[in-house]
Amino acid sequence: MTTPIAHFNGQLMPLDQVFISPLDRGFIFGDGVYEVIPVYEGAMLRGREHFERLQRSMDEIRLDNPHTVDEWMGLVDKLLKHHPGNQSVYIQVTRGVPPKRDHVLPKGLRPTVFMMCYPLASPSKEQVESGVACITARDFRWEKCHIKSTSLLGNVLARQLSADVGATETIMLRDGFLTEAAASNVFVVKDSVVLAPPRDNLILLGITYDLLVQLAAEGAVRLEVRPVAEAEVRGADEVWLTSSTKEVLAVTTLDGKPVGSGKPGPLFRRMHALFQEHKARIRGTVAA
Ligand SMILES: Cc1ncc(COP(=O)(O)O)c(C=O)c1O
Repeated sequence: MTTPIAHFNGQLMPLDQVFISPLDRGFIFGDGVYEVIPVYEGAMLRGREHFERLQRSMDEIRLDNPHTVDEWMGLVDKLLKHHPGNQSVYIQVTRGVPPKRDHVLPKGLRPTVFMMCYPLASPSKEQVESGVACITARDFRWEKCHIKSTSLLGNVLARQLSADVGATETIMLRDGFLTEAAASNVFVVKDSVVLAPPRDNLILLGITYDLLVQLAAEGAVRLEVRPVAEAEVRGADEVWLTSSTKEVLAVTTLDGKPVGSGKPGPLFRRMHALFQEHKARIRGTVAA
């Protein structure tokens, strides 16, 4: 297998030739932010929105953005020339390499910019048709979950709880309310109304979350953004996960108990169809 091509500080090079200093703040402190953009046949799904979120994450951690959104889009297009088909583009920016380890933010560093691609693993037909199993856990992460930070230990440990029991995701509850899952947003359906947790500091505002809200409005599906109580999650007719790689997936068992009928529900099937139509529209919008 040939080594994939990566982007490192302005250069394209084989991934196995990218070397990063151990003093890099991303390595030492997890002091960096990232994005993952799904690409369908060369067309980024909401590329601009991903780079706008990257900007918001950088603003939150007081890191100067080395590129404009247009420059970022151009850099991704260059990388994609080496990676045809459906891809995930991973983009990471860290605060760079200071001369010594010190918590205080160093001035005048050049951020480290790294990008790589890997084949996009969209949900299988089986996952879409049967749904997936999830568990719940207390949300033990920090209070700045809206930053797409590379400091992901809380999410990693949360995700592992579900991996340990062969489940797809860990859905988290904080002070009796739904936040999100370890690497996805969560929607709940009760009596034909979709409920989405608020866009606050306790969740990462997913690009797919926003797309789903838009598609629901266009498809005349009733959706409310408001705090969702634990009892509403446990008594839901439907529960869904969304993310750039999962798209929209139905959760059919939660903590070993069936969600609603135990099968993907009617509103899931509607939103999944709207999502697939949206993907089909963006496919082929980019010249080969
Ligand atoms: C914690 C968390 N929440 C939500 C999401 C979904 O975000 P997006 O739809 O932008 O992929 C992710 C994606 O990785 C995530 O890690």
